[in-house]
Amino acid sequence: MDFTTPSGQNPIDRLKIVGRPVTRIDGPLKVTGTAPYAYERHDVIPNQAYGYVVGATIAKGRIVRIDTGAAKAASGVIGVITTLEYKPAAPPQRQTANLFGGAEVAHYHQAVALVVAKTFEEARAAAHLVKVDYQAAPGKYDLAGEASGAKPSADPNEGQDAEIFDRVGDFDAAFAAAPVKLDETYTTPCETHAMMEPHASIAAWNGDKLTVWTSSQMINWAKAGLAKTLGIPAENVRVQSPFIGGGFGGKLYLRADALLAALGAKAVGQPVKVTLQRPLIINNGTHRSATIQRIRLGAAPDGRLTTIGHVSVSGNLPGGMPEPAVGQTKLLYAAPNREIYLKLAALDLGEANDMRAPGEAPGLMALEMAMDEMAEKLGIDPVEFRILNDTQTDPRDPQRRFSERHLVECLRTGADRFGWSRRNGTPGAIRDGKWIVGMGMAAGLRLNLLMPSAARIRLDRDGRLTVETDMTDIGTGAYTILAQTAAEMMGVPVEAVTVILGDSASPVSAGSGGQWGANTSTSGLYAACLKLRGAVSARLGLNAEDAEFADGKVRSGNRSIPLAEAAKDGPLTGEDGIRFGDLDKRYVQASFAAQFAEVGVDSFTGEVRVRRMLAVVDAGRVLNPVTARSQVIGAMTMGVGAALMEALAIDMRHGCFVNHDLGGYEVPVHADIPHQDVIFLDHPDAISSPMKAKGIGEIGLCGVAAAVANAVYNATGVRVRDYPITLEKHL
Ligand code: MOS
Repeated sequence: MDFTTPSGQNPIDRLKIVGRPVTRIDGPLKVTGTAPYAYERHDVIPNQAYGYVVGATIAKGRIVRIDTGAAKAASGVIGVITTLEYKPAAPPQRQTANLFGGAEVAHYHQAVALVVAKTFEEARAAAHLVKVDYQAAPGKYDLAGEASGAKPSADPNEGQDAEIFDRVGDFDAAFAAAPVKLDETYTTPCETHAMMEPHASIAAWNGDKLTVWTSSQMINWAKAGLAKTLGIPAENVRVQSPFIGGGFGGKLYLRADALLAALGAKAVGQPVKVTLQRPLIINNGTHRSATIQRIRLGAAPDGRLTTIGHVSVSGNLPGGMPEPAVGQTKLLYAAPNREIYLKLAALDLGEANDMRAPGEAPGLMALEMAMDEMAEKLGIDPVEFRILNDTQTDPRDPQRRFSERHLVECLRTGADRFGWSRRNGTPGAIRDGKWIVGMGMAAGLRLNLLMPSAARIRLDRDGRLTVETDMTDIGTGAYTILAQTAAEMMGVPVEAVTVILGDSASPVSAGSGGQWGANTSTSGLYAACLKLRGAVSARLGLNAEDAEFADGKVRSGNRSIPLAEAAKDGPLTGEDGIRFGDLDKRYVQASFAAQFAEVGVDSFTGEVRVRRMLAVVDAGRVLNPVTARSQVIGAMTMGVGAALMEALAIDMRHGCFVNHDLGGYEVPVHADIPHQDVIFLDHPDAISSPMKAKGIGEIGLCGVAAAVANAVYNATGVRVRDYPITLEKHL
């Protein structure tokens, strides 16, 4: 695919506006509380009624009867719908759980009824009057107990036809013969997204046309999901989600709030708003599955890996996908003998699905702790051990190169800037008063996924530009980098660009997922801008081959005309999208990171405090260093949570997550996080896209938890292979 203009130039390469630290253009709206979130859209449609969701109180079984008499008679109640009145809806793509409909209960807090009332308080009060009789069935909730019966499973990150096994060489013989070896099992718990804004939607019908204002990372998936579950044509559905208070993967897919708002609104004949109440979200929604990962590494005495074995078991509802925790292991290090695969056990907890850096995040928690252990066995510095085993080609197919891979530079730069040479490899050797100080590091890799993305850009008479695409901004800075892209392409200041996001009436974008959002949505806009540049040149009678767009003017030959002139007889529009063809198949594309952490462990209580963190990230061109840094420090914070705090506790009797709110599910707060440094290597990736950027939203998380865990080991000398590393495990 050729990404350049007719003259063979790429205007983005000028970097007058792209690559600059433009602050978030939606920032003032967000920090003044004036950005309207889905549940607060009092402005969009009058006469909104409130829906309150009733969740199942068994994890598995059947509903025998639902008595809605008392609820219907309660104050303010307009209507009650129950799951028994609807057919089970086919779950949308990449989802397993039925959101509503039918008597079967597949997991705890699955929605069984919606009470609609004039006020939220009346809906909530009446919801407690709905009586549900169940016939409970025994379920399976314990991954460890089911692991022996788990079945090998395809890797969802590699598409439908992916091989189940990455099996190269003779693993068993090579591992048996390896002079130095490690065979350990690591476990990670179920985790939840814990985003600030809960799932929330307002639905309104106009005849057979449905509009839903919701909180979704993927507008087109929400639209398609609503159409499929409601059994209506997609063109009858409009979805709007201009502001989103965090998603982390929990809002990739249609959830019960949007579906129930639509069903409720239909039933009562007026607009209905539904939020999933906070205590319901964790069991009703999706979570990251726990994993049990066995890693076997074999090496020659010089430190070169001869074998890599990595098998990860995760759980999901019957028919669900595995947590793809071995993906990075296929690509991170060279070794001639490999056995890497996934196994999946059927469980009756809620649906396991994507959470930030799905696969890589928990996979690296295991692999990079194993690498630390192996370095110690070999007596090699952990940074040097990783450098020694770096690879520039796909270990499964030496013909496939990485488009750009600068992991070694990440590692060396990080070691230098973090002061790694001051680390003492003997655990517990460094003291600071009562604190035992440890340093740890880890490498990270996360695939650079490419998604088609389209946009439209309009030039108005006053010279202003308006960008429309159904891209979302989940707190990432999408508004800002799209404005920067349009400004750079059209030669105007950022202030001359208005960006309209999150509306399914706009061209379909890549959406916000899989860390593809920034790179691919700006690339789609790049394509639309090329169209608009062509239209402007034609309107002005300029040669598109050599037209230059800069300083609010279009120059060609010896002519220089204000851009706004082109629209003086009416607006001009460019609409196009980017498709990536087969480029991504000839190259492996990924972002890379080296993560460093220093912790203090209280020598009396075992309390762990993170003291310093550094990430060195190789993710192609950085489109905006402010928003990119925010992505990485947010991800590093999430990694500290994964290392030290986050875990959903399972009630094995009732089959539910017990700590199902932000009081019980612990995440780091400001006081837990020290100063964080982020260094971006500047290696634009021309294979990735015309923007030459790569994914940045998830690589920041990859390796963080293992770096913290390795630092804790360096302090305590106790190797805790069971995350999170809470203090009782190393005392
Ligand atoms: Mo990400 S887990 O694709 O939002």
